[in-house]
Amino acid sequence: MPSAEEASEMSEAQIAVHWKEEEKIPPSPKFVAQANLADPKSLERFSLENFPDFFEEYAELLDWSQRWQTTLDTSNAPFWKWFVGGKLNASYNCVDRHLAKYADKAAFIFVPELEDQPQVRMTYQDLYERVNEFASLLRDFAGVKAGDRVTFHMPMVPELPVSMLACARLGVVHSQVFGGFSGQACGVRAADSGSRVLVTIDGYYRNGNLIDHKANADIAVKAAKELGQDVDKVLVWRRHPGRNSSKTPMLEGRDYFVDEVLKGYVGKRVEPVQMDAEAPLFLMYTSGTTGKPKGCQHRTGGYLAYVAWTSKYILDIHPEDVYWCMADIGWITGHSYIVYGPLALAATGVLYEGVPTYPDPGRPWRIAEELGVSIFHTSPTAIRQMRKTGPAEPTKYGYHFKSMTTVGEPIEPDVWRWYYDVVGKKEAVITDTWWMTETGGFLCSTVPALMPMKPGSTGPGAPGIFPIIYDDSGNEIPRGSDRAGNICIRAPWPGVFQTIWGDSERYVRQYYSKYNKNKDSKDWRDWPFMCGDGAVLAADGYFRILGRLDDVIKVAGHRLGTKELENAALTVPEVAEAAAVPIADEMKGRMPDIYVSLKPGIEPSDEVKKKVTRALEEEIGKIARPKNVYIVPDMPKTRSGKIMRRVLASISNHVDYGDITTLANPEVVEQVRLLVQGTGKVTPKAGHEEVLREVKEE
Ligand code: WTA
Repeated sequence: MPSAEEASEMSEAQIAVHWKEEEKIPPSPKFVAQANLADPKSLERFSLENFPDFFEEYAELLDWSQRWQTTLDTSNAPFWKWFVGGKLNASYNCVDRHLAKYADKAAFIFVPELEDQPQVRMTYQDLYERVNEFASLLRDFAGVKAGDRVTFHMPMVPELPVSMLACARLGVVHSQVFGGFSGQACGVRAADSGSRVLVTIDGYYRNGNLIDHKANADIAVKAAKELGQDVDKVLVWRRHPGRNSSKTPMLEGRDYFVDEVLKGYVGKRVEPVQMDAEAPLFLMYTSGTTGKPKGCQHRTGGYLAYVAWTSKYILDIHPEDVYWCMADIGWITGHSYIVYGPLALAATGVLYEGVPTYPDPGRPWRIAEELGVSIFHTSPTAIRQMRKTGPAEPTKYGYHFKSMTTVGEPIEPDVWRWYYDVVGKKEAVITDTWWMTETGGFLCSTVPALMPMKPGSTGPGAPGIFPIIYDDSGNEIPRGSDRAGNICIRAPWPGVFQTIWGDSERYVRQYYSKYNKNKDSKDWRDWPFMCGDGAVLAADGYFRILGRLDDVIKVAGHRLGTKELENAALTVPEVAEAAAVPIADEMKGRMPDIYVSLKPGIEPSDEVKKKVTRALEEEIGKIARPKNVYIVPDMPKTRSGKIMRRVLASISNHVDYGDITTLANPEVVEQVRLLVQGTGKVTPKAGHEEVLREVKEE
């Protein structure tokens, strides 16, 4: 048994992985007969010998005002340039070009959370008009132009895609902050991106309540100001135009109701600005190793090409499909696979405002039946929740899905089976798509008509994606060896992000430096992209994803950094030190447990614990609410003063913490264990050992 200090340095590759090999399930002949990619030979063209030329067919799904000259330019590796010389507009590609054929077809069907409120069927023509009017307002009233950044803090309402596409029309870079994040978190992101304009909404429905969201805008503007960024215009959509859903006052000269200002822009049209393929389209902030969220910058041409192609061939979207992705547009899944990918294909998308269990667990299936949804896309957390609250509900409704997707976290094989048997009625194929904010679109997945499904495993690399698993020294871990390692992608692809906004050095360091042997190389072969996940490759070429290796906790599929959680806890004046560790949770996959030690002279109390929870909600959002807050006499530490998170995580998860004799204060460990687990013996809980894999010391 290694000492705790050694264990913290232990390579993932040394941790053996054992699990039951699952039976594979073939797609139904009915699905195969209609699939967009069904010819087995079609995959041959995506070989490394044909790289990067095969990506031209991705770009050819789009309309370009000027065709590109160079498919991939590696001259400034690892800052890849895709479709260089090409010009296009994302809003034109998602809206205008569909008008000739699909003007009256629904782009979105908006389903309000309250069932008695009318649904809104927004056709491509409606979308075109609304995008033009809002673009014209953004340009002429808010004064933004190509290259400027605008922050959104919006929930799941059609005004969000309208706002995104309006920015794209002008070449303005949008940065949507998840609506469930706090005002503080929004302000920090607005400051980092240098946004002068904030687009928000007065309120929205969640669990049957009309939430006052405008209040967050005031906090956000203040937080941005403290970081040196003036937000001088706050554009407030109204959930019910003409009527206020927020009690928070409007600040004269700064805050404007969009529906009122829009009256001056009725019927206005804005020429789409033709942008370089490499011009940034949007920023999406996400969490990593440090406390500062990173703004992942995505390009226009390559990104749009990549999400359009994967929407067509992995999600298998046809123009006649009704497609419902339950993710929130505030995350990358929503950007790529609610807005940009499906709209580029002229799909009809369902946009649902609320939670799947409101007012009862039959809701998703009523929506699916009523709207004739044929493709369904959600996360393991939502599937677990739907199974728990209404295990037989899907059988009561007459919908039929042809394909379904899961994304965001590993899915347990038994949860997968319920999804397949009950939700999919054994008719629908499932794609388990593995990817991340930085990668723009899918990295691993089965091609649904061509590859059987394997519960709990994602699949091989998506066409054109070449994953490889390295151990810590850079040796490839062969397939079938049952050993885990760092999953990387060998060659660039058009969907990969361009850089971290304002921090190119961190971009190179975090994603490319670990396995690069020559930093001056211009050859993509020298720059594997490190994804940040642990993975295992089975003999059949399917990857199984084990989870993050970089101090990120995936809570209900949402990505939270342990440093961000700790920094939030440290804003409580009584707290001296804080450590956030993942604990396994039946519904959410993982949740944070927060350990704090207090400043001298301060007595532990429930009040302090409550303050810590409140601080996490205010600094980050309700999704950061911890499972437990523990006040400990001291943190277990190495002799060099590092907090041993792995020991704390072992205690939280009731796993043996191993040899701790090399710690500076080993006696503390047993005190902490008693505090958390009581006097009982250590009884490892099933599946909890896996959590430890995700806990790394610096
Ligand atoms: C995890 C979400 C297992 C993974 C699109 C990744 C998954 C992180 C899967 C990125 C999957 C995503 N199976 N794990 N199918 N999909 N993940 O940036 O740990 O919010 O690194 O992007 O989610 O999270 P992000």
